[in-house]
Amino acid sequence: MKKIHLIAAARPNFMKIAPLYHALNDAAWCHPVLIHTGQHYDANMSAAFFADLKLPQPDYHLEVGSGSHAEQTAGVMVAYEKIALADQPDWIVVVGDVNSTVACAMVGAKCWIPVAHLEAGLRSGDRRMPEEINRILTDSIADLLWTPSMDGNQHLLREGVEAEKIDLVGNIMIDSLLMRSAEIEADTTAQQLAVADSEYAVVTLHRPSNVDQHAVLANICEQLIEVSKQCQIVFPVHPRTRKKLHEFELMARLSATDRIQCVQPLGYIQFMNLVTQAQLIITDSGGIQEETTYLGIACLTLRDNTERPITITQGTNQLIRADQLYQRVTDVLSAPAKASSVPELWDGKTAMRVLASLHQRCFP
Ligand code: UD1
Repeated sequence: MKKIHLIAAARPNFMKIAPLYHALNDAAWCHPVLIHTGQHYDANMSAAFFADLKLPQPDYHLEVGSGSHAEQTAGVMVAYEKIALADQPDWIVVVGDVNSTVACAMVGAKCWIPVAHLEAGLRSGDRRMPEEINRILTDSIADLLWTPSMDGNQHLLREGVEAEKIDLVGNIMIDSLLMRSAEIEADTTAQQLAVADSEYAVVTLHRPSNVDQHAVLANICEQLIEVSKQCQIVFPVHPRTRKKLHEFELMARLSATDRIQCVQPLGYIQFMNLVTQAQLIITDSGGIQEETTYLGIACLTLRDNTERPITITQGTNQLIRADQLYQRVTDVLSAPAKASSVPELWDGKTAMRVLASLHQRCFP
């Protein structure tokens, strides 16, 4: 029986881990061990997702919490090394691009435990993004690289990764979306927020480049206030962003705007219920660019670049600057939706392809 460590750390990891956990748990030849590093720890950033995605309590909780990049990355390494050495997994699976991803990949590489990276090969080309550093480092030491789309394979090959290590498996987040689609549809979050029958936009923001500087965040808030004249806005506010909105005294201004609702971060089912009925999404998230492409909902991404260009070339996503927001929202609300299609292998069967790939490596 092969023992597989699955590393879950932060909100965007949980919907990637869940389908894989369920697939490994159902397979007779392996046994998943769930490790939560504790990078995200608030109930609505973590426990709510475990419940919504039907994940059990983690087998190990490292309780690393917040800190600078060095503190968080090193904290995860110190805590996880002890568990990896004591528990001796056959494989370590890391997902996405958060600090815990690279930390656990480094532990595996140095303890000679094979590491697989799910969502490998994505590149924004922007090394000022901490996630880009995490992606490059993780991919350079992983033993098995599972990519969501062909551009991932191309980046890895260009960086010198051997072709035998790369498996194109598709987008695992779509597995979660399809597994939970009935609950998402039955949920009443959009109704409870009284937006279900109107035109509304969902906003999420948390990137340091958008929220950490006063002038930048103030400008985005002013633009959102303008946009709220065109459609209602529901803004589930990430803890990092909430802290900054208070610090810069912008929260009161947003909350005083009639057609903007600032709410706590939502669980997976609640959030997707809100997204599936929205006219558009304004975000700086990575995963939401993909979910909206799958759902065919317009996505305006407040970033200079994206590591997920297929959501632009094939999907509903566009990159914008804050000062373009009002005009782009007008365009989305007045014009027919941009023609889009679902990328290949974003079909809800990625976990099964990952399982097959891992089985092949475990029993060559
Ligand atoms: C992290 C990831 C980012 C991902 C995002 C999703 C890195 C480098 N960044 O960014 O890629 O898109 O998660 O949310 O790994 N906080 C809480 N409660 C929590 C978690 C965080 O209050 O449960 C607050 C803390 O003040 C913390 C701050 O949010 O300092 C930032 O959290 P952190 O995990 O460092 O980064 P994120 O911005 O969440």
